[in-house]
This record gives sequence, C-alpha cells and structure tokens, in this order.
Amino acid sequence: MTDMIARQVQLCRQPQGHIRADDFELVETPLPALGAGDVLVRNTWMSVDPYMRLVLTGQDGFVPQKRPGEVMDGAAVGIVEQSGDPAFPVGTLVLSANGWRSHFVAKGDALTALPDTDAPPQWYLGVLGLTGITAWLGIEKVLLPAAGETILISGASGAVGSIAVQLAKQRGAKVLATCGSDTKARWLREDVGADAVFNYRTGGALSDFVREAAPDGLDCYFDNVGGSMLESAFDLMKSYGRIGLCGAISQYETGDYRRGPANFFIAIEKSLRLEGFNAFLLTPQENADIARDLADRAQSGAIRPFETVVDGLDQAAAAFAALFEGGYPGKVVVSI
Ligand SMILES: NC(=O)c1ccc[n+]([C@@H]2O[C@H](COP(=O)([O-])OP(=O)(O)OC[C@H]3O[C@@H](n4cnc5c(N)ncnc54)[C@H](OP(=O)(O)O)[C@@H]3O)[C@@H](O)[C@H]2O)c1
Repeated sequence: MTDMIARQVQLCRQPQGHIRADDFELVETPLPALGAGDVLVRNTWMSVDPYMRLVLTGQDGFVPQKRPGEVMDGAAVGIVEQSGDPAFPVGTLVLSANGWRSHFVAKGDALTALPDTDAPPQWYLGVLGLTGITAWLGIEKVLLPAAGETILISGASGAVGSIAVQLAKQRGAKVLATCGSDTKARWLREDVGADAVFNYRTGGALSDFVREAAPDGLDCYFDNVGGSMLESAFDLMKSYGRIGLCGAISQYETGDYRRGPANFFIAIEKSLRLEGFNAFLLTPQENADIARDLADRAQSGAIRPFETVVDGLDQAAAAFAALFEGGYPGKVVVSI
C-alpha cells in the first residue's frame, strides 16, 4: 500500500429499471504500492456511456456484469504522476479503461498515451473516442448516405447522434433527426445542422413527421434507440433502404434489451439491408485512423464536438443516470 487514497464510485445495489444516482456510492480506498514497471495515474476526465447500463442488468452475456460492491469501469483520461515505465514519463496524458476513480496503479500495457495535438484531452472520450468513432462507422462505412438521399438519425442529440448528423450533412444528405425536447430540437436544427427534427415525446406519430419531411420515405436509418422507433422506421423505409444498427438505448432499462422489432418481416418485403456495428471490435489501427480523420474535420471546423461537462466524481452517477432521461446535449464527460 501507498499512503495515498483513491476515491472511486462503486455499485451499492443491483439497479432495478431506471438507474438512480443512489445505486452507487463514492468510497475511499488505499492505493497499492507501485511495483516494478507500474504507473500511478491521476484521472482528470471520465466518460459516462449508455452501454454501462448493460453491465448492470444482472444478465451475463454481451458484457461482463458488475455486482454490488464492485467499482465501475469506463474510459478515462488521466495524467501520469509516478512512473516505473520509461514509455510513460511523469506528466504523460493517458487514455485508460479505468474511469470512475480518482487515481489508479497500472502497467503500461493498460494505457495509451494521447497523441501530441492541440485537441482538448476530453475529446478522446467523445469525438475522437468511442462515440465519434461510432458515428463515423455508421455514416462513413455502413450507411454512406449520398446527396439526394434522406437519412433519419435517432438519439440525434447524444454523443453519437450529434456527430452522425454533421457527417451525414457533409455527405450532402437530407438529415431528419429525433430527440426528446423542444430545446434540443431547436439546437439540432440551428447549431448541429439537422434539416428537420421530431420530438418523440410530444411530436405525435413519427410516420406523420417523416411523411411530411420525406414523402418518398427514408433511404437510410441510423438507429441509436431501438424499440418502437426502430419498428416505426421499418415501416417508413424505401425499398432497398439501409438501416445501421448502432444501439438500443430505449431498451437498456427494460430487462429485455435484446428484443428485436415485431415487424421484422418488412426487411424481406422491402429488401432492406440491415447492418449492426460495434466500435469495440475495431483494431487499434482502425481506431487511430478514424480518430485522425475526425480530428482533421474538427480542426478545420467541418464538425463541431458538442459536449456537456459535469464537475466532480461525486456527480458521475447522476450524470450517468441523466443519459437515460435525455438530460444533456452532446457528449457527457465528467471532470475529476
Ligand atoms: N455500436 C457501437 O459501437 C456503439 C458505441 C457507442 C454507443 N452506442 C450506442 O449509441 C447510442 C447513443 O449513444 P450515445 O453515447 O450517443 O448516448 P448519449 O450521448 O447518452 O445520448 C443518448 C440519447 O438518447 C436519448 N434517449 C435516452 N433514453 C431514450 C429512450 N428511452 N428513448 C429514446 N431516446 C432516448 C437521449 O436524448 P433524447 O431523449 O433527448 O432523445 C440521450 O441524450 C446508444 O444506444 C449506445 O448504446 C453504440
């Protein structure tokens, strides 16, 4: 043990239904002594992401489960404070999977040094990290919406969706977007660049919105939410349309997040192409190549990385719960 104390967020009970901040507690724990080759990192930023709800379902399968008493994990950016590894000198900014804690001790192979750029470090948790890369995959590899085509993007106000809207606009497509508040809808039109926005909480039927904005139907659908929105989109696709299956946030708290749409047969009727994609399966080289392309676009102003910063590790659980309430626009990051 060192005489240093780390603060960390751990699960204190098995969540039921909607996640609550008091499903977690902030605890203090002594840090282990540094062994040969070990590195001590102080986290400065951590990410909260919807997939983290899936480690709390109590159902083994897609992702290993966290049990009460265990510390949460997730992407974080930190600074090396002590080092026994010459590859990570003191002061190096590093990316790790050890979020939800103030400090940790690790071997260098669990760390990635951030590239030496002008990009704010927390962008590596958002536009240059998992969520930007996911948006890029969906638009630039899977769906490839073209000029003259119409794409619907659900969950458009979130970290993935707000980048996907901008990438699709750059390709010349007409972009229809969904979100859950009028404030976000205005922001999506005025700042992010969507052509038309549907508020799924108050806007009536998605079909009425799409039939007015795109009377011939949808060429592409970028699905972040699953559930009834995906079912409705099936009905609204043109023949030979493409659906990119990115996530199903509306199902993550239902106890049955793997459920598919009841009208799946429409995929046959309309000769739809469905393609799921999982950014966690990319190689480090693929990640780096996509991040470089996104960094170029962000630096030139071609895309704007929208983010919401929540201050303090003690607010991380509340920030996480807010993802499922549509609480914040853009990528939510916690400053530690
Ligand atoms: N395939 C991959 O590799 C990959 C990687 C990262 C993320 N994802 C998935 O991509 C999706 C978006 O992730 P993100 O990081 O962009 O999340 P995010 O920033 O938290 O945004 C998600 C948005 O979804 C909306 N939402 C929340 N609950 C909803 C519900 N019940 N019904 C409809 N909308 C709801 C909220 O806004 P509004 O309510 O205002 O719309 C929220 O802001 C998630 O499904 C996530 O799991 C996939």
